[in-house]
Parts: sequence; C-alpha cells; structure tokens
Amino acid sequence: MEKSLEKKFNTIFETESSSSYFAPGRINLIGEHTDYNGGHVFPAAISIGTYGIAEKRDDRTVRMYSENFPEKGTIAFSLDDLSYNQEHDWANYPKGVIKYLIEAGAKIESGADILFYGTIPNGAGLSSSASIELLTGVIFNDLFKLQQETLDLVKIGKRVENEFIGVNSGIMDQFAIGMGKKDHAILLDTNTLKYELVPAAFGEYTIVIMNTNKRRELADSKYNERRAECEEALHRLQTILEIQSLGELTEEQFNRHQSLIEYPVLIKRARHAVTENQRTLKAKAALQAGDLEAFGLLLNDSHRSLQEDYEVTGIELDTLVDFAQKQPNVLGARMTGAGFGGCAIALVKKEAVEAFKEAVSSGYKEAIGYAADFYPAEIADSAGKLIK
Ligand code: GLA
Repeated sequence: MEKSLEKKFNTIFETESSSSYFAPGRINLIGEHTDYNGGHVFPAAISIGTYGIAEKRDDRTVRMYSENFPEKGTIAFSLDDLSYNQEHDWANYPKGVIKYLIEAGAKIESGADILFYGTIPNGAGLSSSASIELLTGVIFNDLFKLQQETLDLVKIGKRVENEFIGVNSGIMDQFAIGMGKKDHAILLDTNTLKYELVPAAFGEYTIVIMNTNKRRELADSKYNERRAECEEALHRLQTILEIQSLGELTEEQFNRHQSLIEYPVLIKRARHAVTENQRTLKAKAALQAGDLEAFGLLLNDSHRSLQEDYEVTGIELDTLVDFAQKQPNVLGARMTGAGFGGCAIALVKKEAVEAFKEAVSSGYKEAIGYAADFYPAEIADSAGKLIK
C-alpha cells in the first residue's frame, strides 16, 4: 500500500517522499453521546483508517491531494492564510490542524506536500474526520520535530471540529485514534480524561462492523441539537443539584430529580446520557470479567436507549440492528458513533460470522432496498509513522 502511494506522491507532486504515516478510524463499543455530557466512553481504534505520504517544502505553500477525491485535484494554500475556505472542501480538516498547531506555538516555518488515502468509507460514522486530523498532527509533529504531546494533538483535532468545522462534538474520536492500542478498548472518563486500556478479549466471539450505507446527512445539525438539549436539561437540574455534568448522576439520583427538567423530550435526552454512562461502566466490568452475555445485553440496551430516548437511530440503523440481534450466535448489537445512519456493531460467534452476514444482509436489503456492508473489526494501534 505505502509503496504505491509513494509512487502516486511522486507523480502528483513531482518530488519524492519516503515518509508514510497512518491514523486509524474508530468504533465505539458502548458509551454513545456521553462524551459531551461528562460521562464515560469505551471506544477502540480500528485497522481501517487514513494513510499519508508527506514531505517538507522550502517555501510557505502547503499542497494536499486525496486519492479519495481525485476530482478535487491538488488543493494548495499558504501558511499565511489558514482560514476556512469552502472551496478547499475536505482539506479544511488538515488545514485547521495546521492553523491550531501554529496557534499553540508550533514552529512550522515552511510548507509541505501531502498525499492522503483513506480506507474508511465516507459518512460511515467511523471517524474519517478525526482520523485525518490526527494523521495531520502526527505528520507535522514528525516533519518539523514539534514534540507536541499526543494529548495536545487530540485536543487540537477536537478544536478543529468544534471551531473550524462547526460540529460541537466531544473528545472520544480523537482520543481513541490518538491513544488506541492493538487489541484493547479504552475506557475514558471524559470529565477528567483519565483512561484505562482494557483487553478487547471476546473469546469465541468477534465484533462485526455493519454499515447501513445510509450517509449521515443532516447529522451535524441534529448532533448540535442533541447537545443543546442535554445542556438545557443539565441547567434545569442545576437549580437544585450541585453538578457540573449529567455524567455525575446515578440513575437513582436522576429518577429522584428528573421532574425538575419538566419537558418530556428533555427528560428523555438526559435519561439516555445518565443510563448510557452507567451501562458503559457495567459493560467494561462485564468484559473484564469475561461475561460476554452481560456485555451483549448492555449493547442491546444501549441501542434501545439511543432509539427511544435519544432518537438518533433511524429506520436503517434500527432495521440492521434488529436483524442482527435476532440471529443465532449473536450476543448483542447496537449503532456506533453519532447515529442517523452510518455503522452498527454486533458481537458474533466467530464460526457463525459468514451465516450471520448472509442472513442480515438479505433481510436488510429486502427491507431497505439497498445493501449493507460488513467489515471485521480489527482493533489497532494509534496514529503514527509507518516504520519500514
Ligand atoms: C461523534 C462525535 C463524538 C461522540 C459520538 C457519539 O462521533 O464526534 O464526540 O459524541 O458522535 O457518541
């Protein structure tokens, strides 16, 4: 892969590079829409992601080309104008990273040429944007010997989403991609950023990623709407409770005080944030104890809560997850990521994976009218330079 990308780099930029980098995508096992509510998440980096081939230049120009968007051609800009530019399309993500690296004091005094190639299906909810953000951070860190801590690159990636792109997302995706470890999931407390690597040991079972192939249109505006709803619910609870986030509440405390929120829709949103946080802690304990059945049931409960209380699933995800949950040799299934389309995951017995895919695939196609895709979830290492 890297060899053919290097060749492509030479052709596109008419210069040579021998430095290759990779940043994974991510799945989230459980803990959805909790990261901006001060709760826990339990994601893992995966082996599909984004490759980058890069070389420094000696002027102040940055040139970028994506194998995924050849029709957009080479996108060029100067280090002296790193403002958001609609015409620069996908390149705004890496551009935002460069802008905020410089603002954080990084000495980037010359430009670079970068070729990108992503293996994450677009709009699949497997964090292609956080992947290219972390990849850009890692590339500049290496090319310019910036010595930025990984956690700083993670925070810069989140800032790009929030301030440069305008999606009010939490820190989960960038954290998983920056801190992931092969065969491990990360239990992250988004309130303190304390985390624990937990072996993703599923024994006879494996995680299968299922793509609805429904793009997450409108997702971003709904995403910001959910976040605002949770903030409003928190605000109402704070009239009596001394809490900074919904993640601080136990279910029992929430039930006792929920009437303060008044509006049924806001109560549902907050209930999801509270119960999902508790489920995440239970799921981590179940996985560590090797109780995969309990883990699977928590996946199912998570999906139901996202469907009924948080209302971020939609017909495609619900249909896919419903078929998956009904198959033999399946311990649980749920949507993963922001929702409104994108991907789901299922915990399936290894020997039954082929039969599982066939059954879910034909059921989904018949109900929705187009096919789903399936990928094995190989849990991978964080973003970095590829050593030859
Ligand atoms: C997106 C965001 C994350 C997180 C998830 C939902 O992936 O980028 O920060 O909020 O949705 O859990």
